[in-house]
Amino acid sequence: MTSLGRYLLISILIPAYTSWAQVPEVNVAAGTEPPKEVILKAIPVDEPMPNLGLESALEELPRSLPEEFQTVYTRCEVPEKVVAITFDDGPHPDFTPRLLDTLRDRNIKATFFMVGRNVKAFPQIVRRMVEEGHEVANHSWSHPLLTSLGTESVESQMRRTHDAIIAACGRVPVLYRPPYGQARLSQRKRIRDVFGYATILWDVDPQDWQSPRKVEKVHDRILSMSKAGSIILCHDIHETTVNAMPALLDEMKRQGYHFVTVSQLIQYEARNQPVAAATVHPEDAVVVPTTEMPLGGLAPAAETISLDPLPPGQP
Ligand code: NI
Repeated sequence: MTSLGRYLLISILIPAYTSWAQVPEVNVAAGTEPPKEVILKAIPVDEPMPNLGLESALEELPRSLPEEFQTVYTRCEVPEKVVAITFDDGPHPDFTPRLLDTLRDRNIKATFFMVGRNVKAFPQIVRRMVEEGHEVANHSWSHPLLTSLGTESVESQMRRTHDAIIAACGRVPVLYRPPYGQARLSQRKRIRDVFGYATILWDVDPQDWQSPRKVEKVHDRILSMSKAGSIILCHDIHETTVNAMPALLDEMKRQGYHFVTVSQLIQYEARNQPVAAATVHPEDAVVVPTTEMPLGGLAPAAETISLDPLPPGQP
């Protein structure tokens, strides 16, 4: 090799070796890496229900009323898209089990306001509701207009259904919904005193009983009217309503809605807004036009109906 050749070889090798030797050593042995920086996010003390794990936190909510509860609820004031879907007038021997399948497949808990005579006729369906985590509630014995009844008749309507629910499933109901959403202030207070019930109305009414009954109508109305804290009125005695549920519930879940029972919704409100829930008693102010269908009759026209006080001269 010539001296020029040696020079060229060395001038290539030395920088190559130097750059190889300067590669910093990487220790890949396990456990020797410096600990990663851990960022802890503080949860404010006035935020009892953090968004993380909302679904499991909601499942923990009791199906009983908080110590302080309003006499009447049409909806609840809550910070997340949490709603209660309710089904009235059942149980129905065919449609209600189908509905329960739909709810079970989606892990959705609902509230059933049941007519006592149907509870007595189909106690096994009521048992299944409770076994699958739903809330059972009182909707009178035979669906009369309570405002047309005297004190004893109203108590009999409530008592027979109350006892039939307990006999069917062992669960003591804590809620009732007056048929057609109608009950005098004095009746609501009396029912609260005697049975410990809250009066549950609704803010979302798809009018699913009204002809022509259509799946799309039920679906679209509930979807467009629902918001955080809504109480949704449905009837599981109508096949179209039950048929509307799979697509509706899937879409609502996709839109971020969570479903709880009505007493859970009230608990959720009380935990997030303890002051508001404890101090607001709007029973004198509530006016809910109702179009709920009577069993075996025509619904009174919505515009003729108001909650208390009743117009003078009415029975
Ligand atoms: Ni009803």
